[in-house]
Amino acid sequence: MKTIISIKSISLLIALLSTIILYKDLQSSEQTKHYELSQFISPETCGGCHTQIYEQWQGSMHNLSSDDIIFNEIANAGLVGLKSKEDIEEAEHCQTCHTPVGYITGYPRKTSDDRTKIAPIAKQGIQCDYCHSITGAYSIYNAQFKYSPGNGEDDPGVKRGPFKDSESDYHQSEFSEFHTKSELCGTCHDVKHVTSGVWLETTYQEWKQSPYSKQGVQCQDCHMYQRPEYPSTGSTKRVKNPGTAADGSVEREHIFTHYFVGANMAIPAQSNLAQSKEISKMAEERLKHSVDIKIDSQVEVKQQHKADGKNIKSQNSEENRIIIRITNNGAGHEIPTGVSNIRQVWLKVIVKDSKGNVIYKTGVPDEKGYLPPNTIAYSTIFGDGKGNVVDNLAKAREIISDKRLKPMQERIEKIDIGEFEGKITVEASLLYSGLPQNVADSLKGLNGMNIPVVVMKEVKQVVSR
Ligand code: HEC
Ligand code: HEC
Ligand code: HEC
Ligand code: HEC
Ligand code: HEC
Repeated sequence: MKTIISIKSISLLIALLSTIILYKDLQSSEQTKHYELSQFISPETCGGCHTQIYEQWQGSMHNLSSDDIIFNEIANAGLVGLKSKEDIEEAEHCQTCHTPVGYITGYPRKTSDDRTKIAPIAKQGIQCDYCHSITGAYSIYNAQFKYSPGNGEDDPGVKRGPFKDSESDYHQSEFSEFHTKSELCGTCHDVKHVTSGVWLETTYQEWKQSPYSKQGVQCQDCHMYQRPEYPSTGSTKRVKNPGTAADGSVEREHIFTHYFVGANMAIPAQSNLAQSKEISKMAEERLKHSVDIKIDSQVEVKQQHKADGKNIKSQNSEENRIIIRITNNGAGHEIPTGVSNIRQVWLKVIVKDSKGNVIYKTGVPDEKGYLPPNTIAYSTIFGDGKGNVVDNLAKAREIISDKRLKPMQERIEKIDIGEFEGKITVEASLLYSGLPQNVADSLKGLNGMNIPVVVMKEVKQVVSR
């Protein structure tokens, strides 16, 4: 009896195992499956009927993602001097998200592939037919999507979107819940090192842990509501955008905008497209509705005993701390998010005495736009696994520190400004720059590009003891 059972259970186990292996095989062959470039329809064709949506998307970072010079300069620099197979594999996989139509149709597969050979349609970055051919995802990171594209212009197939009753003479339409949820965005906006497994970008996870996810506010509810004058952040109303999805089609209560505005001003500002200039302005508006700052009207006084080595007597001294409270009340994720190792968000403080003399300052850039070393900054710092800071994320094996502003949480900074008499005036501001100017200046291909700095919020307060 016993042996029969064990034989039975063993064969059952084998059957089970082979099903799992078969399933895994199927899954991975699906994931690496190549599509033909000819299956994808150019954004200009979609724009023939979806005029407004096309114009919005045209200026967006999604259109510019493949040609983005900051991306390309950093990607190319990242390939230099790598020795380990693990590092090289990571450094070579940038096109997966930045040139996704090219990647899934076979070229470019690698960062080092010749850019002049990229097909014109693939150079148009994250585009209409790519997003609207997605049917779901295997995992919510590293662009592990499932796709079902059509067969080019003559047989466009099914376009998936938010409507349950959508009809078009040109293509079939289908409601897709996946398109209405953060997971669609998160599948590219969470990035994991392909060999070391270190999380390099975590916008989706940050959102998932935020109050917004609990309230059901998706990425789309902020980023696909913005249009000029409506920044649509956590601190501003997210007003509906009534209109039509295609020229002459039915009126709808809300048409999701396709500007995909984040915080990037440098790339849109230097693009030749008029639409991009608009994106740059909207990014500034978005940043200006992201944070709140308050300064306490009294300093915190701390008595300190300093034992001096030579004199046996200990000395009494005083610490006068100004208290600054910063709240990320606008973003559905941390500030900064995404490539938070290169984004620069910092606190600038200037303290003046009653005569107007500056008695303390921090975070004031020099004439070149470089920040002093003691600046209070919010970013992620990666390491090599032995505690040494790495700039090239291909070498990342650990996160050394992650000091960013979490959504809807107050951050308290206490700054000792030394002794003072009477009343003082404290000016505090939070600033944003997409790339430290010193890093920009070290990338030759950027030709001395000036990286814009935005004052996200600025406050002034008279403070006494
Ligand atoms: C899984 C998807 C994914 C992969 C793979 C990926 N990225 Fe990105 N990348 C993103 C997303 C999403 C953003 C936007 C985040 C933001 O704006 O902060 C981004 C933004 C950037 C930016 C900012 C560009 C700018 O104009 O400021 C740089 C630089 C960059 N990526 C470099 C790289 C490099 C180098 C690689 C390969 C080693 C890479 N990326 C691989 C998703 C990806
Ligand atoms: C000949 C005109 C025409 C062209 C070309 C066209 N569409 Fe459409 N599309 C429409 C019309 C009309 C609708 C219906 C709008 C509505 O229901 O409000 C529509 C609806 C959609 C929807 C909504 C589907 C849903 O169920 O929510 C998506 C997504 C879409 N189109 C994407 C695309 C993409 C991507 C392309 C290019 C590959 C494209 N369209 C090309 C006319 C067109
Ligand atoms: C990054 C992915 C992405 C790209 C690129 C993209 N879309 Fe969309 N689109 C969406 C999502 C997501 C929605 C629905 C949002 C929701 O329901 O929350 C949408 C909605 C739509 C709709 C329904 C009407 C509306 O706007 O609400 C149409 C039509 C459409 N897109 C066409 C296009 C066209 C045309 C392009 C290219 C010019 C394009 N999309 C590019 C993700 C994308
Ligand atoms: C195919 C991968 C992919 C998908 C899907 C995707 N994104 Fe992106 N997104 C990117 C990449 C890559 C960039 C950065 C481009 C660059 O900076 O060169 C980007 C940039 C952005 C930016 C601009 C960031 C900045 O710094 O200004 C926003 C905002 C954004 N995406 C929001 C979304 C939202 C919302 C969705 C879902 C509706 C979405 N994305 C879906 C890959 C993707
Ligand atoms: C409550 C509104 C809100 C939600 C929800 C939200 N965002 Fe944002 N997002 C913002 C604001 C405000 C900014 C500008 C401040 C900043 O840079 O973080 C921003 C900036 C960004 C940037 C540029 C960041 C940078 O500094 O380079 C990206 C990329 C982005 N969001 C993607 C997403 C994705 C993906 C989701 C969903 C997982 C999402 N956002 C959800 C409000 C929101």
